[in-house]
Amino acid sequence: MQRLIITGKKTLNGKIIISGSKNASLPILAATILSDKKIILRNVPLVKDVFTMVELLNFIGSKITINKLKKQIIIFPKKKLKSFTAPYRLLKTMRAGILVLGPILSRFKKAKVSLPGGCAIGARPVDLHISVLRQLGANIKIKNGYIFASASKGLKGGQINIPKVSVGATESAILSSVFTSKDTTIKNCAIEPEIINLINFLKSLGVHIEVKKRTIKVYKTKESLKETNFEIMFDRIEAGTYMIAGALTAKKIIVDKINPKIIQKEINVLKKMGVKIKTEKSKITIFASNNIKKIDIKTSPYPGFPTDLQAQIMVLMLKAKGQSSIQENIFENRFMHVQELNRMGASIQIKKNKAYINGGFELSGAEVMATDLRASVSLVLAGLIAKNQTTINRVYHLDRGYENLEKKLNNCNAKIIRKNA
Ligand code: UD1
Repeated sequence: MQRLIITGKKTLNGKIIISGSKNASLPILAATILSDKKIILRNVPLVKDVFTMVELLNFIGSKITINKLKKQIIIFPKKKLKSFTAPYRLLKTMRAGILVLGPILSRFKKAKVSLPGGCAIGARPVDLHISVLRQLGANIKIKNGYIFASASKGLKGGQINIPKVSVGATESAILSSVFTSKDTTIKNCAIEPEIINLINFLKSLGVHIEVKKRTIKVYKTKESLKETNFEIMFDRIEAGTYMIAGALTAKKIIVDKINPKIIQKEINVLKKMGVKIKTEKSKITIFASNNIKKIDIKTSPYPGFPTDLQAQIMVLMLKAKGQSSIQENIFENRFMHVQELNRMGASIQIKKNKAYINGGFELSGAEVMATDLRASVSLVLAGLIAKNQTTINRVYHLDRGYENLEKKLNNCNAKIIRKNA
């Protein structure tokens, strides 16, 4: 098991190039199951979750290579897949593995997919994914930790309603509606930029899809799908994380290769907190910001403030004068970083789904434990501003979603060392 050792209080200065989006890559990789043509994906982030999804696709019979140098994944034409099973081994660490269920069912008319694992940030059931597939005509049973799905005449399409806004269930619904016997209208969809990226990918394969507010219409595809060469969007959560790192510690940090329009909400929140920001077409510059102001934030589906940045913005709130608050509306158990931040000297109290953050206490380095992907990165941010050294254990959580984290920060004058425990 590896750990990170961070020497705090360094002033960051430099440029960080943002990688491709993990959360866009995963559904797009799942979507490649639908195709038997060559697909090239560009700007793929080289992170553990992407490798796990590639392993999963290889397991079911896709022919894939990763060109690490070019950050490309190439999926070669395949007439037949060899397995309709996605095993526990490959889903236990990555919840997004459930996204292969719909595409496998579309190709084989049956699928056996393990119930997933992933970050321990709440119950995170898969009932919405199952509801979507049932509404499309699938027969589903759950037994021995596996989902058994079948649709002997193929999925039928029609009207689907997703009872609660869910990124994954919306992606499952879209992916399962490509080869249905009728057109499909999906109501109450999540409209995260990664979903729009997935839709644009499917369009590049020749699928006809329309988006109106939270309603997505997928037209049934009669012809076979086309070849494509597609660029994955930037990782908006990685961008937000480094913007916050800049606000915490920078002389000047440039966050590059992004589209600021997509993260307007985050930019507005940071500006409201007194962070000095210059926005250009494809980059943002964060300047030394000494007078951070308190703020109250509620997480909500896009275009609201993302739950995936909640842990990171909390660290910035520690630098504000007075009490800030965060209401977590997406996941019921997403404050596990609080205990660790308090061990570093923070003063944060939790009442139900709300955290109250008292600013102005100086952090001091400690040995802390990463509990999930975004919680781990908030501990890195805390380590950057803490006195002395911070040791973060269980960094494998971090490696699931952040490409070259310590290299990117060390290039800007941070001091982070990775050690085998
Ligand atoms: C995705 C993101 C994750 C982000 C989350 C919310 C990926 C790979 N992951 O996760 O980083 O934090 O969106 O923006 O894109 N729910 C159910 N039943 C279900 C599915 C979800 O009750 O079948 C609940 C969840 O427990 C949660 C809420 O719905 O409370 C929203 O979750 P969802 O949007 O589905 O998150 P993910 O797609 O898992």
